[in-house]
Amino acid sequence: MSRSLRIAVAGLGTVGGGTVELLRANRELLAARAGRPLELVAVAVRDTARNRGLDLSGVRVESDALGLATAPDVDVVCELIGGSDGVALELARRALASGKHLVTANKAMLAHHGVELARLAESRGAALGFEAAVAGGIPIVAALREGLAANRIRRVYGILNGTCNYILTQMRATGRDFAEVLREAQALGYAEADPALDVDGIDAAHKLALLASLAFGGVPRFDAVHVEGIRHVAPIDIAFAEELGYRIKLLAVARLTPVGLEQRVHPTMVPANAPIAAVEGVFNGIVAEGDAVGTAVFEGRGAGRGPTSSAVVADLLDIARGKRLPAFGVPAEQLVEHPLAPMAAHQGRYYIRLLVVDRPGVLAEIASVLRDQGISIESLIQRARDPGRGVPIVLTSHETTEAAMSAALGAIRNLPSVLEPPRMIRIEEL
Ligand code: NAP
Ligand code: HSE
Repeated sequence: MSRSLRIAVAGLGTVGGGTVELLRANRELLAARAGRPLELVAVAVRDTARNRGLDLSGVRVESDALGLATAPDVDVVCELIGGSDGVALELARRALASGKHLVTANKAMLAHHGVELARLAESRGAALGFEAAVAGGIPIVAALREGLAANRIRRVYGILNGTCNYILTQMRATGRDFAEVLREAQALGYAEADPALDVDGIDAAHKLALLASLAFGGVPRFDAVHVEGIRHVAPIDIAFAEELGYRIKLLAVARLTPVGLEQRVHPTMVPANAPIAAVEGVFNGIVAEGDAVGTAVFEGRGAGRGPTSSAVVADLLDIARGKRLPAFGVPAEQLVEHPLAPMAAHQGRYYIRLLVVDRPGVLAEIASVLRDQGISIESLIQRARDPGRGVPIVLTSHETTEAAMSAALGAIRNLPSVLEPPRMIRIEEL
């Protein structure tokens, strides 16, 4: 058998700890598949004294992660610390610059610095693996880079944040409170160190920028993703969605439109019978639409110890087997800058919920605002009756533009009979 692949793991939290466990548990299987042993030689953590319940016999335990980047007995560094900059980025730069392969689960770092790191890797003949960075255990990076590489991709969309999907699923199934379910997701190791990254949609946007790059051959443009999180999704919206035949998901969508690349992450009503609607709990789901393959659907656990370590170790196996592919599917120099489609140009249908004074003429006022923006109402629900006081009404629109809808919501908000800011959720045709 050939020489072992010597691995260093920086960070022993959910992902790093899981990676060490999997390397140990499947040692023989991995060696057989790679044709050589995958040998863990060093780890780095902040607190070297803490017992993590891991078998680290024969492994160096260090507090200086950056030392791994130049250690002569290391072939590949796994950066499993996190953070878009700081130690993680410095470790990635130094490891690649010294010719070591890099495996990372760090979508934040890649969304900001991916092209720079890909260039560095290519210049040194090193691999840059990031399967764990998008959709946990689902091999979607390999699928877009390899299995679907023959296709012109029309659209890629999906549920990319396990924490948000877990929260929305639990809220719908049990009526439990947002904050309580978020605490549970944190305890299960699903959430980011700063859970605002999850619930405000930023983590899904990092992943979408990477998926869009793989799908459309462009430079990842996280800064060009329209992002809204799930904090404003209320139980009443979940109930109305159900009644209207939809589920609410934090959906990430990327597609090339006639005016450029559209990338958006926001709470979305998806038809209850669409495959993506059935993706529940911590699961992620991704749909890729290609000109040859048609629609390909992927589903699996999107966060947590097992799924993410499965993806990290898959990258290590690829490296051990000698596979070297451009990180984003085409050489970094050939990634293009797509024109960017403004969100105002987005076209779609919309759900609007208002709290209005229950008195004659209110609906006519709202309808006239929508008429002035050329927006056609598809359905309207008002059930409660409470003369002179606030009652909820719900509208869905036919297809219109984001620009028209924003203008209409601005005007509706200013009507004296409207008691709180309108809530809007986009409806996606799937
Ligand atoms: P985590 O549980 O918070 O673990 C982070 C680890 O990094 C800890 O072991 C910590 O050491 C170590 N660390 C922090 N600063 C360090 C430093 N300066 N030097 C050495 N070690 C340092 O994080 P995680 O959930 O495993 O996430 C790690 C990465 O994977 C992030 O980029 C995250 O976005 C990504 N990711 C996470 C998941 C998931 O389900 N959790 C899924 C996909 C991707 P101590 O233990 O000593 O504090
Ligand atoms: N916090 C992320 C999530 C981890 O909930 O999906 C997986 O990337």
